[in-house]
Amino acid sequence: MLKFDFTNIFNSDIPNGITKDEIEQNSSKIKNILKDINENKPGFVEILFTNKWLDSVFNIKNFLKDFDNFVIVGIGGSALGNIALQNTLKPLNWNFLSKEERNGHLRIFVIDNVDPDYVAAILDSIDIKRTIFNVISKSGSTAEAMANYLVVRGIIETYGLNPKEHLIFTTDPKNGVLRKIANEENIKTLEIPENVGGRFSVLTPVGLLSAFAAGINIEKLYEGARYAFERTIKEDIWNNPSALIALTHYLYYQKGRNISVMMAYSNKLYYLADWYRQLWAESLGKAYSKDNQKINVGQTPVKALGATDQHSQIQLYNEGPDDKIITFLKTECFDRNIKIPQVHNEKSLNYLQGKTLSQLLNSELIGTESALLKHGKPSLKVIFPKIDEFNVGQFIMYYELATAIAGELFNINPYDQPGVELGKKITYALMGRPGFEEYNIGNQKQERIEL
Ligand code: PA5
Repeated sequence: MLKFDFTNIFNSDIPNGITKDEIEQNSSKIKNILKDINENKPGFVEILFTNKWLDSVFNIKNFLKDFDNFVIVGIGGSALGNIALQNTLKPLNWNFLSKEERNGHLRIFVIDNVDPDYVAAILDSIDIKRTIFNVISKSGSTAEAMANYLVVRGIIETYGLNPKEHLIFTTDPKNGVLRKIANEENIKTLEIPENVGGRFSVLTPVGLLSAFAAGINIEKLYEGARYAFERTIKEDIWNNPSALIALTHYLYYQKGRNISVMMAYSNKLYYLADWYRQLWAESLGKAYSKDNQKINVGQTPVKALGATDQHSQIQLYNEGPDDKIITFLKTECFDRNIKIPQVHNEKSLNYLQGKTLSQLLNSELIGTESALLKHGKPSLKVIFPKIDEFNVGQFIMYYELATAIAGELFNINPYDQPGVELGKKITYALMGRPGFEEYNIGNQKQERIEL
């Protein structure tokens, strides 16, 4: 079971820190929010009450069996969850292992960006004949996903292969161009539930198929998520990780801490911080409140990696402005252990020789959190007794629920992203998409200051 340590959030040495009383004062508000979540289950919760989404993945397992490579084509919420599951739950060198070492499971690649160097690097390193491409787009219209789809489809056809045998679409049940193409050409598809948006969709077929292809136990992911939901709904605030995460972040935001750093002391868990970064940013960064007041709220999420970023960020976190609340991710059980050998008869290295790398890394975590506290900076810690499907499923659900609760506290809609739209429309105009001419900035008169 995942553990949470809020000790250094409430420490009385933190100047202008939050108190237990402030939590108590908000407890009935939280109770009402949780009641509402339970009664009007948002889509990302509703999916837990059926096996439909797991089954939809199991039902196409035969379709995967002739392949070595599984390539995800999608971006944002259609990619980040997959990347997080893959890197957190499989060895970091997964794609370099032999088929036997992978127990026959597939290598996983993600084509999200439209950087040609990046796309070419992936496509050059796989045997297209042995590759299944999973094109994921809820809207079925995102420019990056569609462009990369066209690129991979072009390659499939160049190789003289049947696109129907190398493509799976994961998309909206009714809408979008992917759905249209799938219907016309009878391409295999998986549905994304209508009421689940991109960044909340990792436990739908969006994230489940690639996870299954890599041999991740997706039923255990669901078990973890279901456990986290039940706990969040049942428990009072002091035994409720999602509620405490949301409320402590919200209260510290009110006191000027408008940055939320998630610092993983594990390269594997770092990818969960990446997933969280999108979830917190896109869900909570909003111009208007639910009652249409201009409020421009949002806490900027930052990801960091311990110990690496101790040599890059920690100076700022310790001595810089009081604008951060920090979450550490810790594992108590690395997959591997490396003993630091006794190589030199050298006094200054003796404190390392004979110890393990994990001992050093976890000591560095204690060192960093203690130093932050001494500098008056609040932090909390999420502890993975083991990095497995049950715990990762919990983490995902606790944080999705925390985001939904925080949305209520900030009085904004956490499920939309109107701020992404304008940039998209300008891009469409620049690329000549009919209907978007008015957004062409080339037509606007503006004094330019270019050096
Ligand atoms: O969270 C979101 O809604 C976004 O990040 C989307 O996932 C992203 O824009 C991709 O959208 P789509 O899946 O429609 O291609």
